[in-house]
Amino acid sequence: METLTTQPMGHGQTHAKVILFGEHSVVYGKPAIAFPVRSLKLDAYAYQTQGDWSIRTPYFEGLVAPSDARGEDISGLERTLSEIALMNTLRILGKNPPGIRVEVSGLVPPARGLGSSAAAAGAIARAVTALYGVKLTGEEMFHLVQSVETVAHGTPSGLDAYATTASGPIWFTRGKAESLEIMRSPRLLIADTGEPGHTAEAVRGVRERYEKQEHETVELLDEMAWIAQQAKIDLATGNIGPLGTAMLRNHEILNQLGVGTGGLDHLTRAATNAGALGAKLTGGGLGGCIVALVEDRQAEQRVKTALINAGARDVWRVHGEENE
Ligand code: PMV
Repeated sequence: METLTTQPMGHGQTHAKVILFGEHSVVYGKPAIAFPVRSLKLDAYAYQTQGDWSIRTPYFEGLVAPSDARGEDISGLERTLSEIALMNTLRILGKNPPGIRVEVSGLVPPARGLGSSAAAAGAIARAVTALYGVKLTGEEMFHLVQSVETVAHGTPSGLDAYATTASGPIWFTRGKAESLEIMRSPRLLIADTGEPGHTAEAVRGVRERYEKQEHETVELLDEMAWIAQQAKIDLATGNIGPLGTAMLRNHEILNQLGVGTGGLDHLTRAATNAGALGAKLTGGGLGGCIVALVEDRQAEQRVKTALINAGARDVWRVHGEENE
């Protein structure tokens, strides 16, 4: 922790992430590959005030502890997470201001497997530390975001905490992230089923399955690890084709782990029928989004149209290290 000058206002910015390989298996120490989605951003601003502690986010607006007054609860979970992010940051900084206001704007759609809880926690923590002119170390910031993620979904791997601030694709394994070498940027589309995902429930379901059918589950998790290892090589050598097949197999495994839905299968099929090289659910599952890999701009347009015609609520593009 390093103290800089005190600012009248603190700002923090984070973004969405998309997991290309390794969701769920990453919770068991296996590797995962994630890309930042920088077109879906959150900006948090923190100000000192004379009144209450208050937060406004795209998901919640209201007064937070220590005031007794409670604002309108738009989403119980997100409210709690924003509140915890603010309170844990103040605790780490040793601050107890009479009043503080945090405003979060932008959009990382909540409960879509795109890392909204880590993105909101990270943006709030950055804004509040900047307000006090303090720069936390990477590790301190990671633990702060993880303290919120633990409330959001129990046993977070830490992948989201890194991926929602990463400037490029990351390789994440056993709590450590490193930047991923990419020769040719894969062209990705994210499509939203419109059904909220349920990460905590999905993570719990996989854990139950692991405890009841350990041998079969370990085999599936090991296969996902192997797929991610292979994908790392393919990305480094620009061998995009096999990634599509790997995504389809990864999707099947996630279905076998019990985190798929009919809606996710429907969009995955719509993408591949329209010429995507591969597609899979992304994030915690039980709803949320799919990610599809396309060859070129023409295929991208075709697949995007097919996804919208198939009922996708939104389609976002991710292209390599930069979102165009
Ligand atoms: O649904 P999201 O965006 O929170 O992603 C969850 C990813 C998991 O691998 C399922 C859980 C984790 O902690 O990595």
